Amino acid sequence: MKVLIVGSGGREHAIATSVKKSSRVSKIYCAPGNAGIGEIAELAPIGAMEFDKIVAFAKEKEIDLVIVGMDDPLVGGLVDELEAAGIRTFGPRKNAAILEGSKAFSKDLMKKYNIPTAAYETFDDPQEAMKYLETSEYPIVLKADGLALGKGVLICEDKEQAMAGVKEIMQDKKFGSAGNRMVVEEFMTGREVSVLSFVDGKTIKIMSSAQDHKRAKDGDQGLNTGGMGTFSPSPFYTTEVDEFCKKYVYQATVDAMAAEGREFKGVIFFGLMLTPKGPRVLEYNARFGDPEAQVVLPRMKNDIIDVVEACIDGNLDKIDLQFEDNAAVCVVLASDGYPLAYDKGFEIEGLDDFDNEQYFCFHAGTKKNEAGKIVTNGGRVLGITAKGDDLKQARANAYEATKRISFANKYMRNDIGKAIDEA
Ligand code: AMP
Ligand code: GLY
Repeated sequence: MKVLIVGSGGREHAIATSVKKSSRVSKIYCAPGNAGIGEIAELAPIGAMEFDKIVAFAKEKEIDLVIVGMDDPLVGGLVDELEAAGIRTFGPRKNAAILEGSKAFSKDLMKKYNIPTAAYETFDDPQEAMKYLETSEYPIVLKADGLALGKGVLICEDKEQAMAGVKEIMQDKKFGSAGNRMVVEEFMTGREVSVLSFVDGKTIKIMSSAQDHKRAKDGDQGLNTGGMGTFSPSPFYTTEVDEFCKKYVYQATVDAMAAEGREFKGVIFFGLMLTPKGPRVLEYNARFGDPEAQVVLPRMKNDIIDVVEACIDGNLDKIDLQFEDNAAVCVVLASDGYPLAYDKGFEIEGLDDFDNEQYFCFHAGTKKNEAGKIVTNGGRVLGITAKGDDLKQARANAYEATKRISFANKYMRNDIGKAIDEA
């Protein structure tokens, strides 16, 4: 079978690594990919939003299965276009990817179907939003409705910050048209857990839980990033939490989407907050998390192609989804300065020293330069994942493995998985 993966980050490298393990796959392509993915797949220099080119490429290469990793093409309807051309594709169609693409949609869905989440109001008019914020309780959370590279959420401590936030999102359009509408949400406290799941339109199977570290600096200080590291499973995802979410969140979401005529097939990522009042949905994503995929997929025992096909065909109930009884930690190696300005183009050394069984070096922002050397090419450069019998072992292994890699301006957090000690 010939598989095409769409995307270029560490998540897509993790997906490609799982696909590579399948005995059913003879050839992997990736558009546009990165230097690490290029070691196991043939790269096509096509951007993830160049739908016509992707469809033409898939036809030309007689691709049997496309896996779309990224949010933008999913929300933009790439799956619909590929399907219209008769190409089997894993991921939600446009009318279902809206679960991630519009926060107003997802909040309204949760309200309508009694799925536990923070209280909220939606605004199309900045003046109305400001009026509402005059008498709100603080802190409060402002969210641009659409996709904003994970940056469209502002936590405002007081009225002044909230007014400035409305201006930024709705008037200055800092996140572009994503800010045409805005959700104002109750501020919640608690631990965050990411739960990824496979969905076939009616059946949902939960993967092992994970936790991300979104801030740039140790101790959850600094700016928000795409994610500086992850661990899986989360010790805070207890049986009690699992039972609650099975009863009120997971199947309820899949059923709600089906009832709305928006059958969801693909991956639903539940961003949960474990509040003192119980688990609440912070957000939905319509794809694997990045860097959650880098700790979850290496622990999955199933052949990923079997699972993905079951989602497409509506046979997921026949799949016994299994994860190894161990743990994994991913430490992101970034370019110093990320998520603001940083330099790139530095040669990376030590890349070959990973066995793809216990140790993984997932590329994110890398490329091959003209001299054939692999160099840094982004804010998040690599994700170093290691397994261990338990989380502590996995964390020790991951940090040990980060020492194998060197490049100028290498930066990482030193406390990924520190919360494990509090469990
Ligand atoms: P989101 O993109 O919705 O996941 O938001 C990004 C981050 O903002 C989350 O991971 C949380 O840390 C924080 N956040 C979002 N919504 C809330 C909320 N209602 N209360 C507190 N923190 C929030
Ligand atoms: N790690 C969070 C995300 O993928 O959105």
